Amino acid sequence: MASKAVYLNGSYLPLQEAKVSVLDRGFLFGDGVYEVIPVYYGKPFRLDSHLQRLDNSLAAIRLPNPHSRSEWRDIFAPLVAADKNQYLYLQITRGAAEKRDHAFPENTAPTVFAMCADIVPFAGTQDGIAAVTMDDSRWRLCHAKTITLLANILHRQAAVDQGGGEAILIKDGNVTEGAASNVFAVLDGVLVTPGPSPALLSGITREVILELAQKNAIPCRESAISAAELNSASEIWVTSSIRELIAVVELDGAVVGDGKPGPLWQTLNSLFQAYKQSLS
Ligand code: PDD
Repeated sequence: MASKAVYLNGSYLPLQEAKVSVLDRGFLFGDGVYEVIPVYYGKPFRLDSHLQRLDNSLAAIRLPNPHSRSEWRDIFAPLVAADKNQYLYLQITRGAAEKRDHAFPENTAPTVFAMCADIVPFAGTQDGIAAVTMDDSRWRLCHAKTITLLANILHRQAAVDQGGGEAILIKDGNVTEGAASNVFAVLDGVLVTPGPSPALLSGITREVILELAQKNAIPCRESAISAAELNSASEIWVTSSIRELIAVVELDGAVVGDGKPGPLWQTLNSLFQAYKQSLS
């Protein structure tokens, strides 16, 4: 199979030939969910956690999962190359109905799309990034990984416009997450991240970091981080699949810590890289 083949509704075909209807509800309404799954050494990372989150997202939008876990594994296998770091992108929409109507269509097959792309090293990984805080303008289903990402896009772009690499979102005085990441802060030597809630996506990278911290007796907890606490944090990180752990070295124009990725970031990033290696 040519390396640029993608999966669409039961077939593998070249990317250029993969087409969906303009009546697809993903296109018309943003009515669908997605997943982003890193693939290291040819193996999807934490696949069960990603597929569990896919189930949760589908349940949140009341769309049945079109495939069993083993069917998903079979769908992904031909897309993945064994010799490089990649990520799987998977999207399911409520399909193309005959007429445009906000209410769910009857007897409409979902659209199922999957592709694999190379992970391009991110410039901020070693040096850290600047981030900008802003009021979280999103809805109450942020725990579902929906393709309806306009608010996230506008947040990220507002950060980019101010010279930042990520937006850190604040709701009712507390941090929720980044525009496309979870947030960790080091407060009085303790690694803190907001606990799961409808206000944020439970990231798989976040889950791995909490596990690694616990296994290595690094003090950590899940609890609210106020905007004031964030400003006083000695370290701030944003975490996501593909970008992994990124230190925030500047927040709203002020230096965080000593302006370099901090000691706890160094430790957890090394543990994370070692954990990835151990799966090869
Ligand atoms: N996004 N929160 C939001 C809003 C996200 O979009 C993401 C990741 C995360 C981190 O989740 P994870 O660690 O499972 O990747 C948190 C992906 C990478 C994206 O939309 O491209």
